[in-house]
Amino acid sequence: MHAAITGTGVFTPSETITNAELVASFNAYADRWNAENAAAIAAGTAEAKAHSSAEFIVAASGIEQRHVIDKAGVLDPARMFPSFAPRSDDEPSLMAEIGVKAAQQALEMAGVSASEVDAVLCAASNMERAYPAIAVEIQALLGTGGFAFDMNVACSSATFGIQTATDMIRAGSIRRALVINPEICSGHLEWRDRDCHFIFGDVATATLLEREDLAKGAHFRVRSTRLATQFSNNIRNNNGFLRRSHDQMEDRRDMQFMQNGRKVFKEVLPLVSAHIAAHMADEGLRADDLSRLWLHQANKAMNDYIGRKVLGREPGPGEQPNILQDYANTSSAGSMIAFAQHSSDLGQGDIGLICSFGAGYSVGSVIVERRV
Ligand code: COA
Repeated sequence: MHAAITGTGVFTPSETITNAELVASFNAYADRWNAENAAAIAAGTAEAKAHSSAEFIVAASGIEQRHVIDKAGVLDPARMFPSFAPRSDDEPSLMAEIGVKAAQQALEMAGVSASEVDAVLCAASNMERAYPAIAVEIQALLGTGGFAFDMNVACSSATFGIQTATDMIRAGSIRRALVINPEICSGHLEWRDRDCHFIFGDVATATLLEREDLAKGAHFRVRSTRLATQFSNNIRNNNGFLRRSHDQMEDRRDMQFMQNGRKVFKEVLPLVSAHIAAHMADEGLRADDLSRLWLHQANKAMNDYIGRKVLGREPGPGEQPNILQDYANTSSAGSMIAFAQHSSDLGQGDIGLICSFGAGYSVGSVIVERRV
């Protein structure tokens, strides 16, 4: 029994921030901070904040803009953080709201009604609250049956969710599952940190997986999945439910996303290249058998490197689509945006590979085959 991806959805917030807008706001913030701390800077007890640069951002990452849910809060030099209006318990939570929008697109694409779905997995880097699970709220808002649960594997949440759903479908415990990735990265990015203030954006993606014999039209058979993790502190966020027991929490930089970007680069590239090579070898696939790579969207140079390594040559136009120039890094949703937006042209029997990687470290690869 095979599982198949029959529907995908991408909810894209309407507001965008270009690199130029982001840098203007960061530099205004830095100037204010330097003025407020002029005495300490002059005394040598504080270091002046340097300006950011749009040229650096695009050269170092390939990112040109990002979508966010609240542009005004992020760009306000006196705030530098999104402003999300508080919601009562009777209103949908923000993650559930955007997750539902992506899920509805996936259901529509597959011609499936919500009541036919047996499981909802909300798989994302952060959860808006501890419980009840966001997935259970999405289940109620959509009107799906069965059960729902949250899972978090940072940037690999989507592929880990796809393997989980695929395994349940193959085992026969469910017929259909929605894997939903609402990634509100603006809420865990430190917009006042020049080294990383440009890297994230907001989005929600959804993937509908079905038992293949139930698919109503063209779809992607999940040929196989492979997951791996290896502990690392190089991407870390210490925020969590015990945080109130820490002193001076508001001043703690480690309560937001932190990374040692250079080390991540150096350590994750070989990990991912070896992971994909082993997965393909076990599936009896050679580079020439792959029509497309949908990679995690963090850094263009990183993706170019992985593409060359996997294919053994320079990827041709469209073979390894990037969306990070428009969305920035959207954590687990990135490879799924690339898949959703750049897959419908593939023909019968074409094979492609979705691969995510990030904090943990974690790597997840999904080999799919187009069936029309
Ligand atoms: N504007 C201008 N200059 C900047 C800058 C900014 N916004 N941010 C950093 N710089 C400077 C640094 O100060 C440094 O200067 P120095 O050489 O004088 O010390 C120089 O640019 C290089 O900084 P570095 O942090 O080494 O840049 P980088 O080339 O490694 O690029 C990343 C940074 C984050 C884009 C890159 O490391 C990356 O993408 N890493 C992988 C990230 C990843 O996959 N993370 C997973 C998260 S889910």
